[in-house]
Amino acid sequence: MWQDLERMRAARQGRRIEALFAADPARADTFSVRVDGMVLDCSKTQLDTELRAALIALAEGAGVAERREAMFTGAPINETEGRAVLHTALRAPDDARIKVDGRDVMADVRATRARMTELAGALRAGRLRGQGGAITDVVNIGIGGSDLGPAMACAALAPCHDGPRCHFVSNVDGAHIHDTLAGLNPETTLIIVASKTFTTVETMTNAATARDWMAARVADPGAQFVALSSNADAAAEWGIAPERVFGFADWVGGRYSVWGPIGLSVMIAIGAERFGEFLNGAAAMDAHFRTAAPQDNMPMMLALVGLWHHQVCGHATRAVLPYDQRLALLPAYLQQLEMESNGKGVTMDGTPLDRAAGPVVWGAPGTNGQHAFYQLIHQGRQVVPCEFMVAARGHEPDLAHHHRLLVANCLAQSQALMRGRDIDAARALMARAGYSGAELERQAAHRVFPGNRPSMTLAYDRLTPRRLGQIVALYEHRVFVEGVIMGINSFDQWGVELGKELAGALAPALAEGRAPEDADGSTRALLDFVRERA
Ligand code: F6P
Repeated sequence: MWQDLERMRAARQGRRIEALFAADPARADTFSVRVDGMVLDCSKTQLDTELRAALIALAEGAGVAERREAMFTGAPINETEGRAVLHTALRAPDDARIKVDGRDVMADVRATRARMTELAGALRAGRLRGQGGAITDVVNIGIGGSDLGPAMACAALAPCHDGPRCHFVSNVDGAHIHDTLAGLNPETTLIIVASKTFTTVETMTNAATARDWMAARVADPGAQFVALSSNADAAAEWGIAPERVFGFADWVGGRYSVWGPIGLSVMIAIGAERFGEFLNGAAAMDAHFRTAAPQDNMPMMLALVGLWHHQVCGHATRAVLPYDQRLALLPAYLQQLEMESNGKGVTMDGTPLDRAAGPVVWGAPGTNGQHAFYQLIHQGRQVVPCEFMVAARGHEPDLAHHHRLLVANCLAQSQALMRGRDIDAARALMARAGYSGAELERQAAHRVFPGNRPSMTLAYDRLTPRRLGQIVALYEHRVFVEGVIMGINSFDQWGVELGKELAGALAPALAEGRAPEDADGSTRALLDFVRERA
C-alpha cells in the first residue's frame, strides 16, 4: 500500500495544483466534505480520484472502521495501559448505552454532569458563595489536558461568557500563579484543582500555593476548592471534601477530557445549556465519523490528506492557522492532542516504526502569523502544509468590515500558496518598478514564489459552542485515524515520563547544592551556573 502511494507521489511530482482546477472546474466541490454548517475544502492539494481511492484503501486495509467501532463500544484499545478509550461517552446522547467490562457507564457520566450543572448553576446564580460574597473569579489549576482544553474552549467561547471570570494557571514557574492571583480577592475566588492523577507536580505545587494564598484571608479555604480528578482518595487526602470532587474514569485520556469534569470552568463561564451544545456538537461529529462513507467523512479525509503530506510526501510539519482570534489557543491544544497522541516510535506490538508517525504541529492565528512566519511558508525551501480555518460570520455585527478583511486574507493566503509567482512574472514586476539588467535579475529572484504549496481550509458559519464541539471532535478523530493507520497506540504517553523522573532527582539537588552522582558534565555545569547566581 505504502509503495503504491510512493509511486503516486513520484507520478505527481511537479504537477501544478492550479492546473487541476483548469482541467476540472468542479474540483472544489469534488474534493470538499460538508457536514452540518461546515465545509472542509481539500481541493488545494494533490488529491485526485485515484489518490483518494488509494488513501481510502490504506485506511480500510489498516482496519480503521473496525478499530473505530471498537473505540465507540468500549473495547480496551489503549493496549499498553489496558484501558478503553471512551471520551465519546462523555458527550453521548442521553439514551446511549455504553458498556465497559459489561457495565453501562452512562449512568455515572450523567450523574457527574448533573453535579457539575448544579455547582455551576449555584455559582453563576450567586447561591454558592465565598467568604466575601458571590464568587467573582474561578482559577483552574491544571496542566496539559487539564488546562489546554478548558483554557482553549473558554477563550473560543468568550461571546457566551456570562458567569464568573475564569483564569488558568498551568506552569510551575511561580510567575504564573503569582501574576494570576495578584489581581484576585481570595474571599470571592474559587480554585479548581484539575488533575486526572492528582499527582502532577506542577499542579500540586500551584494548588498548595493557592491554598496558602487563600488561607491567609479565608477562615475555611477548603470550602472554596473543588477537585476534578480520577483519584478521589488523593483529593480527599489533600483536603477537598468528597462532595466537591468530580471524578471521571481512567478511560478518559487527559488530552481528551474537556468534555467531562475537566470542562467545569467552561460550564461555569457559559452555563450548562451552552456547555450541552458544545457536547452536542462533538456528538454530532461522532455520529458523522461513525457512519459517513470514507470520502464524505470529514475526520477521515482530514487524516488521509494529512498522512499523504507527512508520511508519503515527507513534509515534516503541519501549520494550523485559525483566522479566528478566539481560537488563538487552538494550535497549542492541537499540539498536545496530535503530538502527545501520535508522536510515537513503535507500533502497538513494540516494533520500531520505519517512518515518523506524526508531524510537528504548530501555528498561530491569522492574520498575525502573516506578519511573522508566513515568509517561510511562502518562500522557504521546506513545504509546510497549511490548515486554514475561518468563520463566515463573526460575533461583532458592527465590525463586519473587520471580518471581511479577515476572510479575504485567509482566502488570499491559500490562493497565494497554490498560485505562487514565477520568474517571468517577477521580472515583469521589477521592470515596471524601473529595474533593468543584472539588478533586475537579482531583485526578481527574491520575488519568486514557488507556489504549488498544499493547504486545506475548514470554513464554518460561526464559532458557536456547537461548532467548537464539532471542530475539536473532528481533530480528535483525525488523530485516531492517523494513529490506526500507523499501527501505534495514540492513547498512551510514555514519552513524558523520563524527563519527569530526572527533574525529580534534580530539584532536591538544586536545594541541597550538589549534583546527582550520575549527572553528566553539561548538567553539572549548568547546575553550578544556576546555583552561583540563585
Ligand atoms: O505529562 C503528560 C500528562 O500526563 C498529560 O497527558 C496530561 O494531560 C497532563 O500530564 C496532566 O495530567 P494530570 O491531569 O494527571 O495532572
